[in-house]
Amino acid sequence: MVAFSLILLSSLHAQEGPSIFAPANETIVPPGSLRVIARAAGKATLTLDGKPVPIAQPAPGVVLAEIKLAAGPHQLTLAAEDGEAKISFFAGKEHNAWKMFQPHPPGNAACDTCHAVKNNEWALKRATLAPLCHTCHDAARFTAVHSPHNTATLVDCQNCHFPHGSPASKHLRMEKAVACKQCHS
Ligand code: HEC
Ligand code: HEC
Ligand code: HEC
Ligand code: HEC
Repeated sequence: MVAFSLILLSSLHAQEGPSIFAPANETIVPPGSLRVIARAAGKATLTLDGKPVPIAQPAPGVVLAEIKLAAGPHQLTLAAEDGEAKISFFAGKEHNAWKMFQPHPPGNAACDTCHAVKNNEWALKRATLAPLCHTCHDAARFTAVHSPHNTATLVDCQNCHFPHGSPASKHLRMEKAVACKQCHS
């Protein structure tokens, strides 16, 4: 039996307020330069360890920054009209039991690999991302790993995977069992 819980699916993306996607809270990154990807409404200020850093806002709601990191612990704070987001992370090799943040796609892929500005809004380049994902990820492998599903059923990749990177294995947002329960009760 397949029971669809579309309410659950859509509520995954209905978080309120500013949010820092990359890097993730309580993760480790290499010292040096790092790309920050975030969301915030209206005029935003990003501070690294208490000092403001320059940001780009390629469209309303989007915050992009390139920061330089010395080895050691760091904090990023994003303040905007809709609230504040704060993360702690560590530049180096090991810290607490934190995991390495793996950016995705690796190597600072351009935002317009997946996004486009449409009507002055930050949107996805295409309504369904799967064909875009499959420019880099073998579609045949998709079926093998996501069996019995094909791309048509699991079209919204971001319901299960972090698009901008994460410390999680396979960039999964949640455990596999929970991921499947989005539709199978
Ligand atoms: C591999 C594809 C991919 C790349 C590359 C990518 N994104 Fe995204 N982005 C997504 C997906 C998928 C979503 C989720 C959309 C959703 O959940 O509706 C998203 C969501 C976002 C959001 C949140 C929109 C919202 O309202 O919640 C922001 C902001 C964002 N991306 C910024 C960026 C920036 C800046 C870059 C470049 C540094 C970038 N993204 C690169 C796929 C990508
Ligand atoms: C520009 C090329 C590119 C695009 C576009 C892209 N990826 Fe990736 N992705 C990579 C690379 C490179 C890796 C790391 C190497 C690997 O494991 O395949 C990766 C890793 C992953 C992983 C982890 C794989 C693992 O074995 O740990 C997942 C999951 C993933 N991508 C999902 C997506 C999804 C979903 C999209 C579309 C929203 C997407 N990717 C778009 C290049 C890309
Ligand atoms: C229902 C949740 C779900 C959706 C939706 C989903 N995936 Fe996955 N994906 C998974 C799970 C779970 C794994 C890990 C499978 C494992 O390791 O057993 C995975 C693994 C992957 C991997 C790693 C493959 C490998 O070689 O190990 C890639 C790449 C990937 N997914 C891409 C995508 C793309 C692209 C989409 C959208 C077209 C997508 N996924 C949609 C759950 C999902
Ligand atoms: C977006 C909704 C959705 C998600 C998430 C989802 N499925 Fe499905 N599943 C379906 C649909 C629809 C079918 C009916 C056949 C098809 O399209 O593949 C199905 C069929 C199946 C079947 C065939 C038996 C049956 O119950 O009809 C299995 C087994 C299955 N899914 C396992 C999984 C696993 C394992 C996951 C997690 C990786 C998962 N599904 C996630 C929608 C989903």
